[in-house]
Amino acid sequence: MPIPKLPLPPVPDKLKPAPKPPGSVPTRKPLEQVKEAGISAADWVDERTSLSGGLRWTMFRKLPKGTNWFYTLGSACMFAFLSQAVTGVFLAMYYTPDAAGGAYESIRHLTNEVFLGEFVRGMHKWGSSVMVILVFLHMARTFFFGAYKYPRELNWVIGVVLLILTMAMSFTGYLLPFDQRSYWATIVGVNINGTGPFVGPFLSDFMRGGSEFNSATLSRFYAIHMLLLPGVLAAMMGFHLYLVAKLGTTAPPWLKAPEDPELKTDKI
Ligand code: HEM
Repeated sequence: MPIPKLPLPPVPDKLKPAPKPPGSVPTRKPLEQVKEAGISAADWVDERTSLSGGLRWTMFRKLPKGTNWFYTLGSACMFAFLSQAVTGVFLAMYYTPDAAGGAYESIRHLTNEVFLGEFVRGMHKWGSSVMVILVFLHMARTFFFGAYKYPRELNWVIGVVLLILTMAMSFTGYLLPFDQRSYWATIVGVNINGTGPFVGPFLSDFMRGGSEFNSATLSRFYAIHMLLLPGVLAAMMGFHLYLVAKLGTTAPPWLKAPEDPELKTDKI
């Protein structure tokens, strides 16, 4: 025989909703209320910041016909940068920029003993090569699609700066484990820079932090790698994206614009 259910305890009068006046609008369902709460929170922020106009301007743009997967390479570069920034923050929590064995030891500890240390280090290490490759592929896309022409020349120039900054990130990061390979490879790299005309010797002295390759060099590379370059890269990327949003992207070169009869040469 089934056990009879106990009756529910009575709801206190104070918690009962007030009786609705006759003819009032029915209340919304809980899910609708949650959705509206999200919208009104966004409204609250927007009323105070007017950010939605800027967001709409950046995100909702018309794209030319023929836009294809090659146009995602720029965003892929940006994602690679964000991934480097996030994994880099975690690496910095364990890294010690000490040339007298501390740097090498901190990397050894991170790789062998820290939970997921090897994984995060691997993501950062492989991610750097991925980012360089993506930037080159993106540059090739903009070159072969003729996107460097008027009115996007300035964005191409900013792109070249982004390419140099990305390679400088790889170069300065390579020294940080301070093992035999990174030490000698960076000496070679600094010496190559020193052979440049006019500025070469000043550049290599600046990189070393003097005429000797020592602990000052490691501190310098670390500061440049984790503070200076990411800051400048992020700012330049912001400017690059502003110009992309302002000018729009280029249509693929195989799509011809419809001929405007007004511009026919025989009319001039
Ligand atoms: C960190 C590196 C970079 C990031 C994050 C980045 C990001 C982007 C994004 C998101 C776009 C719009 C979508 C697209 O066309 O892919 C774009 C467009 C563009 N980028 Fe880059 N970019 C980078 C490096 C470069 C480099 C190295 C160059 C060339 C030297 C370059 C030149 C251009 C040009 C000319 C456009 C306009 C494309 C068009 O109008 O179709 N960018 N970039």
